[in-house]
Amino acid sequence: MNTSANEFGSMIKMITFGESHGPYIGVVLDNVQPGLAIDPAFIQHELNRRKPGQSSVTTPRNEADTAIIVSGVMNGKTTGTPLCILIQNQDQRSKDYGNIAQLFRPGHATYTYLQKYGMFDFRGGGRASGRETACRVAAGAIAKLFLRERGIEIIAYTTQVGDIIAETTDYSVIEQNIVRSADLQAAEHMIALIENVKEQGDSVGGVVEIVVKNCPVGLGEPLYHKLDADFASARMSLGAIKGFEIGNGFSRVVKRGSTNNDAYYADETGRVRTRTNHAGGIVAGISNGEDITMRIAVKPVSSINVPQETVDEYGVAHIFQTEGRHDPCICPRVVPVAEAMVALVLMDHILLQERRHTAEEKTAERLATIDREIALLQMYRAQVASEQIVHK
Ligand SMILES: Cc1cc2nc3c(=O)[nH]c(=O)nc-3n(C[C@H](O)[C@H](O)[C@H](O)COP(=O)(O)O)c2cc1C
Repeated sequence: MNTSANEFGSMIKMITFGESHGPYIGVVLDNVQPGLAIDPAFIQHELNRRKPGQSSVTTPRNEADTAIIVSGVMNGKTTGTPLCILIQNQDQRSKDYGNIAQLFRPGHATYTYLQKYGMFDFRGGGRASGRETACRVAAGAIAKLFLRERGIEIIAYTTQVGDIIAETTDYSVIEQNIVRSADLQAAEHMIALIENVKEQGDSVGGVVEIVVKNCPVGLGEPLYHKLDADFASARMSLGAIKGFEIGNGFSRVVKRGSTNNDAYYADETGRVRTRTNHAGGIVAGISNGEDITMRIAVKPVSSINVPQETVDEYGVAHIFQTEGRHDPCICPRVVPVAEAMVALVLMDHILLQERRHTAEEKTAERLATIDREIALLQMYRAQVASEQIVHK
């Protein structure tokens, strides 16, 4: 395990820093190859997809979330040095939390953080706030640019809000509706449900699906860095994510092996494919070249305006009620965050695989050199042996 719990990655190293109500949050991404073209407009576009205040179903907290690239980029390209992006916190209202500062916030970090660290930045959930995910989205945008050069695409969308489930999947409509669903009709019902829940001062959960297209075969490092294991870990490191499925996930348990196995065939180019994709593009922890499909369960977030039972640190009973501004459903904002984490995991695994290839190529080169030397020595030996025969 990494000694720093704030560090992500084996080849790339990502460290995010900052709290919800501090002056800045930010991210340092190290080991990014030099020469990668960086498009600041794309980074900003990704941050805008996550930022609060973007629609009637997200928190009205008003943050510009402007990415300030502090280091690691020169003339539009990465330099290979640590890449740092800063984002200013502008719309903090710590007083929203003034009257509840001493109370344990049900479903949020107060009690467990306080027990662990002995202190807690209660304002907006401090480090446990969803605000930290802006840093991951900024770093994820860099990873997406890296993946784009390799033709790999990541698409995420909301498939369920409360009991409303999408029935169709049309990627072209995802950014056309404020819940980011791939089913426009279901989106209308989802929005109506969220607005209803919001009026009641409550929150509602949902499911976000993520698909990776054109993933190369062979990514994943069994046993403890299987590709699916690293995806699960990256997802579960986000607040409010309470379930992870790969491929057909839990629904597979009612099937038989005969209908669950994905049969292999060779397509017209000779490439090995599977007839079905119940596995979700990963077998034995390694990508098989099919689409990678994953789903995450997003809980109804804890900050609601409904009174709840709680206690303070002395065990005295209180009623907990916030007037802070919150998301009634975070699924639309989880979509870009989920994409970012997938992009970072994939970038890390591609670099691991490329290192393995480089190492294999180096070994092959050294063996070829040794073979050449053995051949020369054998020729020399034969020559010396023939001289011995002449002397006799
Ligand atoms: C993008 C995003 C936005 C979030 N916004 C909120 C929010 O407005 N209110 C809230 O209570 N939790 C929010 N959360 C969830 C909290 O961060 C999370 O519930 C908290 O850290 C407790 O962790 P747990 O839910 O994983 O147990 C958000 C999470 C993400 C990923």
